[in-house]
Amino acid sequence: MRFDPDKARDVISKLATILRRLLNSPDSFVPLREEVEFIDNYLDIEVVRFGPDKLRVVKELDPASLDVMVPSMLLQPLVENSIKHGLSSMVEGGSIYLRSRLSDSGLVIEVEDDGVGMAATQLVESTSTRGAGIGMANISERLQVLYGDTARMTIDSHEGKGTLVRIRLPLLQAMGAVPEGFYEERSSTRR
Ligand SMILES: Nc1ncnc2c1ncn2[C@@H]1O[C@H](COP(=O)(O)OP(=O)(O)OP(=O)(O)O)[C@@H](O)[C@H]1O
Ligand SMILES: [Mg+2]
Repeated sequence: MRFDPDKARDVISKLATILRRLLNSPDSFVPLREEVEFIDNYLDIEVVRFGPDKLRVVKELDPASLDVMVPSMLLQPLVENSIKHGLSSMVEGGSIYLRSRLSDSGLVIEVEDDGVGMAATQLVESTSTRGAGIGMANISERLQVLYGDTARMTIDSHEGKGTLVRIRLPLLQAMGAVPEGFYEERSSTRR
């Protein structure tokens, strides 16, 4: 089968539509492992579009972090941004780093790219609900609803250098350690 860029673009745009819909469905939690598998699938399609030499993906995932429960669809909007805003205009392409580790305070997840980055004003607007997009504002709002002030998303971006988004979540292990009813109680807070 020959590679057809128009077809690939079509597939991506359909996929993005599906993802947006999922994003608006009631929140649920999944182990980080599942979220990463999902991102792998998504990236596979993007790599087809960009070519493996233009889009490099580097994963640095601490195995101990992969059982932690995270809100589903937490990372896709960030990876999408790295590709769409950070890397797509770079002729030579670039890299996305996906990292996770445990810290004293909980789970740390990072999505970083070495793309075009953001200017300071753009950075301020990026998580504002007044901004053009909904991706970042949506994540920030979901974290607030689900975790209150115990979760944090920070964005570190420099024009011409790239963008690092870091999310810190309190530790919720898959099965067992979570108080009974926790996920149910928090799973229908937003539509
Ligand atoms: N990795 C990145 N590199 C460069 N700019 C970024 C990056 N991530 C976000 N931005 C900037 O922040 C803005 C807000 O991102 P956000 O995901 O909220 O909205 P969007 O991507 O424009 O639209 P949507 O996600 O709703 O399709 C983007 O428009 C872009 O200007
Ligand atoms: Mg976006």
